[in-house]
Amino acid sequence: MLFDERPKDRKEDLFDREREVEEIINNIKRPLLLISGVRRIGKTSVLLVSLNEAKENYILIDCRKLKENYGRKELYSLFSEALSSKISYLKDVLEKVKGISIAGNYVEIKWGGKNYISLSSLFDELNKKRLIIAIDEAQRLRGPLSKEIKDAIAHAYDYDRNLTFILTGSEVGLLHELIDVENENSPVYGRYYLEITLDRFNKERSREFLQRGFQEISIKVEDKIIEEIVNYFDGIPGWLTFAGNEYATKGKIEEVKKTAVKVAKGELENLIEEKTKKVSYITGKRYRNALKCIAKGENSWSKLLSCMEKEEGSTISTSVLDNIIQNLEKMSIIKDYEFLDPVYKEASKLL
Ligand SMILES: Nc1ncnc2c1ncn2[C@@H]1O[C@H](COP(=O)(O)OP(=O)(O)OP(=O)(O)O)[C@@H](O)[C@H]1O
Ligand SMILES: [Mg+2]
Repeated sequence: MLFDERPKDRKEDLFDREREVEEIINNIKRPLLLISGVRRIGKTSVLLVSLNEAKENYILIDCRKLKENYGRKELYSLFSEALSSKISYLKDVLEKVKGISIAGNYVEIKWGGKNYISLSSLFDELNKKRLIIAIDEAQRLRGPLSKEIKDAIAHAYDYDRNLTFILTGSEVGLLHELIDVENENSPVYGRYYLEITLDRFNKERSREFLQRGFQEISIKVEDKIIEEIVNYFDGIPGWLTFAGNEYATKGKIEEVKKTAVKVAKGELENLIEEKTKKVSYITGKRYRNALKCIAKGENSWSKLLSCMEKEEGSTISTSVLDNIIQNLEKMSIIKDYEFLDPVYKEASKLL
């Protein structure tokens, strides 16, 4: 079912993306692959379908479950969960490892104290059998442990030939910052990775996606409505899926748009709140104002600056503004003073 809102994991349910899946499968023996693209573009779906099609053993780590300033305990508990899901395949390897205990089907990894096992050692142990380690939303690994994680991935890259890492990320600049192969000071410096970037559907594909989706749930929808959804949601599959579902239940296109904007607004508010909590109240407010000003069409550095100064009622330094712009770009929210997602743009007007 195309309009199923969960990430797809079967090839039959994945629309288009044959080329991307094929490219991943053809390169599945490489040490490191990246799947990047804006939110809702279909990264997790492409990842899961590729893993299933490759018919290889894998574990999946979902970093969305990590809080901003997560610690070793939280990270290891994600690994525990993932390894537990593959216990029948990994049991013979894991039961011999100091620092790992298996109770029933649950794998426990010691994250501190005596017998604690480092990530590098864990990877070395896992390397005894062929395994793909898929890390979804990997940019969330940034933080206090990121050096150690990079060290471990670099080590596995060089020595653990049985392991493949596949990382995805919707905050593409931040993902590149984590895997900064061009930075001489980075542990992963100089290593090669293959990056698969997911683009939005063009209009024709978007139309087909919606037509097929509505057909599957036996709902007749006028071409005019299809066109409106295609134009509003700009080829982002997650929004097309969302709109298909919402339209099927509500039957009113204006309602569908409104609900989508509400969802996007909630996500932006989370971002602002995170900045407020992590940095300061004024920083949170400045992100809010920046988003509002860009949504209004302030599409140059100086226009944005003067709009934000007006909103705030005081001057803002060059470095502060540069920093906000850079971060919004790294989070794949804007590029060249334009929103990458039209729904985020509408939502920002309401902030
Ligand atoms: N090619 C596709 N065919 C069918 N459905 C798709 C496709 N791509 C995405 N979807 C649907 O769109 C939604 C978002 O997809 P998915 O979760 O895979 O994207 P994502 O890029 O991982 O999103 P996020 O950035 O939120 O993690 C899901 O409902 C998924 O089923
Ligand atoms: Mg995802």
